[in-house]
Amino acid sequence: MKKKIAIIAGDGIGPEVTNQSIKVLNAVAEHYGHEFEYAPCLMGAVAIDKTGEPLPQETIDICISSDAVLLGAVGDPKYDNDPNSKVRPEQGLLGIRKALQLYCNIRPTTIYPSLVHLSPLKESFLQGVDLVIYRELTGGIYFGKKEISKDGLSATDTCTYSAFEIERIAHLAFKDALLRRKKVTLVDKANVLESSRLWRKVVQQVAASYPDVTVDYIFVDNAAMQMILNPKQFDVVLTENMFGDIISDEASVLSGSIGLAPSASVGHTTALFEPVHGSYPQAAGKDIANPIGSILSTAMMLDFFGLHEEAKRVREAVSWTLSNRFVTKDIDPINFYFTSTLGELIADYVGHKITDQVNHENIELRKSTVI
Ligand code: IPM
Ligand code: MN
Repeated sequence: MKKKIAIIAGDGIGPEVTNQSIKVLNAVAEHYGHEFEYAPCLMGAVAIDKTGEPLPQETIDICISSDAVLLGAVGDPKYDNDPNSKVRPEQGLLGIRKALQLYCNIRPTTIYPSLVHLSPLKESFLQGVDLVIYRELTGGIYFGKKEISKDGLSATDTCTYSAFEIERIAHLAFKDALLRRKKVTLVDKANVLESSRLWRKVVQQVAASYPDVTVDYIFVDNAAMQMILNPKQFDVVLTENMFGDIISDEASVLSGSIGLAPSASVGHTTALFEPVHGSYPQAAGKDIANPIGSILSTAMMLDFFGLHEEAKRVREAVSWTLSNRFVTKDIDPINFYFTSTLGELIADYVGHKITDQVNHENIELRKSTVI
């Protein structure tokens, strides 16, 4: 199979984690006989520095002409504390979501037995947790009408949804539920918001086409609590843009490190794959960031291409590193491996260059500390 992949390495740790995913993709290409062509492009603070814009038109064009986009991270603290700044790196991310019509953001939460001690939750709360969040990504308060009064003393953000926008993501959520534990939970605030009442109405209509799927409706404040108290009750969580942003950060820490969490954003054609973590500028250039969020996003990309066997192999490689304690600093601050080492190990495993009888001595040499 031949595919063109736009690479937006972005800011902070974005380039280092993305490089590891490229190693993994190269291993997949070599081992399974595929051809991946990479098209690098600019977005975020690096794009502002080089072109003055967070999302140059050239990047949009390259992405549209690609089969998929692999994104590292965007964001730079020099813009965070300046509310008057006219350009911001995040505008690039919102812009590409809109330009590619990526209306559905998918964020799975997986629990790895060897990491449960790192989770903020007790082990007993984590057993059986396997959920995926379907977050609407191109509507709601993020993209509604925004206004600031002339005197600058009042500001408005509007949350608007059409039945069409709700329906199309609802179908994707229900279809996925059929392949999983057959449950969809709609998270909304229908006791207060008109837009949430529309979500409920449309989801109820869509649900009628999926009689095998159980539907649950919960308010977002309760969902935030349930995500901690009883996360195993969730299978597919469906929600609007802003609620999904908040709930998915909460869900991403259950597994023990946000560095592990992948995501896919899909629309009509080109889809985008990115780790849930941000640009983590404090770690940039130190070779200590966790590349697994990006690598698992690449596995989601392979599934999107229909390369399920390859995607499975990448996930097995990740599980193999974690259960053999080949982990980055966020997981083990004392005995950790570098970002680049982990990328090589996972790529080697994918390419069947290491077996379970791994030569620990060689890998020990690539470790950060000598014990
Ligand atoms: C995310 C991020 C973005 C969002 C920001 C960076 C605009 O938090 O992808 O979840 O709010 O959607
Ligand atoms: Mn977010």
